[in-house]
Amino acid sequence: MVNTRTALIAGNWKMNLDHLQAIAFVQKLAWALDDAKHDYAAVEVAVFPPFTDLRSVQTLISADKLKVAFGAQDVSAQESGAYTGEISAAFLAKLDAQYVIIGHSERRTLHNETDEVVAAKTAAALKHKLVPVICVGETAEDLEKHGPSAVPVAQLEVALGQVSADSEIVVAYEPVWAIGSGQAATPEQAEQVCAALRSTLREKLGDAIADRTRILYGGSVKSSNIAGFMREPNVDGALVGGASLDVNEFAGIARFPQHVGL
Ligand code: PGA
Repeated sequence: MVNTRTALIAGNWKMNLDHLQAIAFVQKLAWALDDAKHDYAAVEVAVFPPFTDLRSVQTLISADKLKVAFGAQDVSAQESGAYTGEISAAFLAKLDAQYVIIGHSERRTLHNETDEVVAAKTAAALKHKLVPVICVGETAEDLEKHGPSAVPVAQLEVALGQVSADSEIVVAYEPVWAIGSGQAATPEQAEQVCAALRSTLREKLGDAIADRTRILYGGSVKSSNIAGFMREPNVDGALVGGASLDVNEFAGIARFPQHVGL
């Protein structure tokens, strides 16, 4: 079947850029993309700033009618109440955030987020009509022990526990060994796992969601290697960390159709 999925280039800022820097960055990004006559209908561009930046980014995007989308880097699984330091999906929805990253490997490792926590956060996001960007990926040790797709597929199966066939979700395959290492997976490696993740969606929730869900690759993506990933049939975009903090580099990644010749 013909792939009608809109590519998504997502910038995960992690704990970088304060709200003033965020305003300047998003403004410059929009200018860079506009100058290049970026086709947002073909390639959606989203940024994921820290929580304290979100209100400023929202205000800028809505005042200047920018076409850049935005989301948060995490969300609480809880609805409200005595959860000091947590941010609810309801708060993010009220800010017009469209997306939220869930289960990034740094949260899994540094905050002990289990697959069950990822599933609960995914359900909380969907309840408030946020699109969860569900992150899965294996460590170098997992890869050696279990092969390429076993761990990411097992993580996704649990994360989908409360997802229904009509939900909108995004899946991000991020091999832990490729994150921030400068050593990206090869396009063939990314394709192999993304195809397995799409099969998992198909088996668990049916053809429609499997065909429409965007599956991203993440891990040392740059403007110089994005084209190779985007040529693969099951890779629909990228979750970009380090390279998303440089306006021209990130805009260059978003403009991959120029490099691919699409
Ligand atoms: P990186 O990070 O692009 O710096 O490797 C990707 C991520 O952690 O989402």
